[in-house]
Amino acid sequence: MFIVQKPYSREQTQMPTQETTLDFLFSWYNLSEREWVAHMEKTLKINSINDMDQLAESVAKGLTKGSVIGLAGDLGSGKTTFAKALARHLGVFSTVNSPTFTLLKVYQGRLPFYHIDAYRLEQSHYDPALDDYIYGDGVCVIEWYPIIRSQLPEERLTLDIIITGPTSRILTIKGNGRYEKIVETLGD
Ligand SMILES: Nc1ncnc2c1ncn2[C@@H]1O[C@H](COP(=O)(O)OP(=O)(O)OP(=O)(O)O)[C@@H](O)[C@H]1O
Ligand SMILES: [Mg+2]
Repeated sequence: MFIVQKPYSREQTQMPTQETTLDFLFSWYNLSEREWVAHMEKTLKINSINDMDQLAESVAKGLTKGSVIGLAGDLGSGKTTFAKALARHLGVFSTVNSPTFTLLKVYQGRLPFYHIDAYRLEQSHYDPALDDYIYGDGVCVIEWYPIIRSQLPEERLTLDIIITGPTSRILTIKGNGRYEKIVETLGD
């Protein structure tokens, strides 16, 4: 795993494009929070599953109670593979399977481990029951996080994965707020 580019940004997050009046109002509602969350982003070249596992190991070291990790990328890009590796490095010994059909699975490691797969939810879905896990006392990993983006805290770690070959991936990892530190330490 190595860094393709290492942009560092403490700039304000861009205001989202407004498509409808409702979106506009919602974006204003969130504006004060959105604008001022510092973030750090790195783009990594992943060559193998082993690289993905090493990344998960590094990320796991920085996770604490209440951590939120969003995963995005096409079908088969490696979201579940990363989530499984993360669980293992957080001391989860039971088998972690994709929660595509159950929406949520709960495991116990050094912290509770919540694995959500939002794939089957409608875009912009809001499910109050998920708040107990997203704002809970464990580590919450969400596959297809953009679908429930509005329900997520602005401070979060996100991984966006692009398939570039059978085992190669380009992965953009972004840490907002307190997650900046995790990104900072990667690839050094
Ligand atoms: N570098 C890699 N990182 C992650 N997975 C890889 C890598 N190389 C090969 N793979 C393979 O790609 C597949 C990724 O499947 P996985 O279920 O993790 O994807 P996913 O993004 O969760 O898909 P879905 O959107 O269907 O949930 C696995 O079969 C895994 O073995
Ligand atoms: Mg998956």
